[in-house]
Amino acid sequence: IERTLSIIKPDATKRNLTGKINAKFEEAGLRIVAQKRIHLSAAQAGQFYAEHSERPFYGELCEFMSSEPVVVQVLEGEGAIAKNREVMGATNPANAAEGTIRKEFALSVGENSVHGSDSPDSAKREVGFFFSGLELVG
Ligand code: GTP
Ligand code: MG
Repeated sequence: IERTLSIIKPDATKRNLTGKINAKFEEAGLRIVAQKRIHLSAAQAGQFYAEHSERPFYGELCEFMSSEPVVVQVLEGEGAIAKNREVMGATNPANAAEGTIRKEFALSVGENSVHGSDSPDSAKREVGFFFSGLELVG
């Protein structure tokens, strides 16, 4: 059974959408096996998104991700990584399919409500970035 790291981003926590977004995960058969609300520093956001450090929007991304609290969570299910990305929808909400989280809730390509790991390697790294083994309750 697969696990993936999800983040409900500041634009969504600010608008009180945590429950509505979690309902989307649960309806898709993803189980929330760990979850906590934290406020990242810009440096922590920068470390998490280090792979994007050369991209032109990196500064804006780190500033946004540290602007308000986020909810970090581990989702579990068959093919959880791909399933979560399907439920999230395209990065740019203008391209996101009907019924996806980003279609319904995202404000822009930057303020796009959720993050999800994009591969087994990144899921392992990203889950370990936020959670200890003791916090993961299958
Ligand atoms: P994540 O699940 O958050 O990683 O999204 P993604 O995999 O769909 O997109 P990607 O990894 O390419 O980019 C990471 C994040 O950077 C996106 O989710 C956006 O929040 C942000 N981002 C991507 N492109 C842009 C952009 O052109 N402008 C701004 N401001 N932010 C961007
Ligand atoms: Mg990504």
